[in-house]
Amino acid sequence: MKIQHNKQLQQYNSFRTKAVARLFCEPQSVDELSEILKSFPDENKLILGAGNNLFFTKNYDGLIIKPAMYEINIISDDENFVEIEAGAAVEWDNLVEECVSKGYSGLENLSLIPGSVGASPIQNIGAYGSEAKDTITLVKTVDIKTGEQKEFTNNECRFGYRDSIFKQTRRYIITSVIFRLNKSFTYEEKYVDLSRELKGNLTPSLSQIREAIIAIRSRKLPDVNKLPNAGSFFKNPILTKEEKEALQKKIVDVPIYNIGENSFKTSAAFLIEKAGFKGKTIGKVGTYENHALVIINLGTEDGNDILNFAQEIRNEVDKQFGIILEPEVWIF
Ligand code: EPU
Repeated sequence: MKIQHNKQLQQYNSFRTKAVARLFCEPQSVDELSEILKSFPDENKLILGAGNNLFFTKNYDGLIIKPAMYEINIISDDENFVEIEAGAAVEWDNLVEECVSKGYSGLENLSLIPGSVGASPIQNIGAYGSEAKDTITLVKTVDIKTGEQKEFTNNECRFGYRDSIFKQTRRYIITSVIFRLNKSFTYEEKYVDLSRELKGNLTPSLSQIREAIIAIRSRKLPDVNKLPNAGSFFKNPILTKEEKEALQKKIVDVPIYNIGENSFKTSAAFLIEKAGFKGKTIGKVGTYENHALVIINLGTEDGNDILNFAQEIRNEVDKQFGIILEPEVWIF
């Protein structure tokens, strides 16, 4: 298996910041991956997916492993359900498109999310009322420390809002993910923006849902090829009842979503906009004019410029509203 030295990572992160990895490889199978782990037991290691949710602020002094497992297989099929195993490197939206075209439901609300299949359980990707955890039955991994294979059932993945055991431990390299999809489909209204886009159609087909979501996302989110970005930069803050009430005293019309007992979610985009940062640019970094939660790169190759801009947003939101925004994007 080929190991590359001093690999430029600019094309491997969607913010397009420059950084060099001392060692870099793309294992195409679980065996190749295990072999690499055995050959480099003492190196620092970083697993890279499609690079849509991370950026580099410095060179990486270690081994970057970019899994290159691309297969998609149907592993069980009955009257009502189908189980599909997709390799970690499969582009997420290609999988969604294929499932929608075959009439398998469960992934359609996650249309056009950038990234790879392997990244989907790590931060339990979500949009328009659906999350990856709703369809994942099994995640196959290799332990980065021992090189042993280990499988995680849905429960064992410890999924939460943009969270999982994979994110918490960073110990398991995902090689493939198994999704259980429904062969029939009934639309349930869960998200106002989506209902609006469907223009009163209460029985949309899977393709109509996909088209509606693609339309919403394309309007609100910048094209990564024109304006490099990593999607939502911060997580939506989770608040206790007391924190929620304190915030409502400062901003009467702040959006609040009840997500459990004594647990509330507010909108990071709203707070950033309210703090005066929507469409704002400092140097070569800014927020997108149609969505305050998306930081865009307007021409820098230095990840520190992005980091500093994000820090300015954090400081201002903290100063004005007493809320600390946590990055959703991984920063190396
Ligand atoms: N809003 C503003 N200003 C803005 C944009 C939004 O005030 O500039 C407010 C509005 O009140 C709006 C609310 O924020 O109703 C929610 O906005 P949106 O529906 O765009 O969702 P979001 O909470 O900002 C989350 C995900 C997105 C996902 C959308 C759609 C997170 C961190 N982000 O964003 O995921 O596409 O919901 O379901 O949970 C991503 O993770 O990279 C990502 C794009």
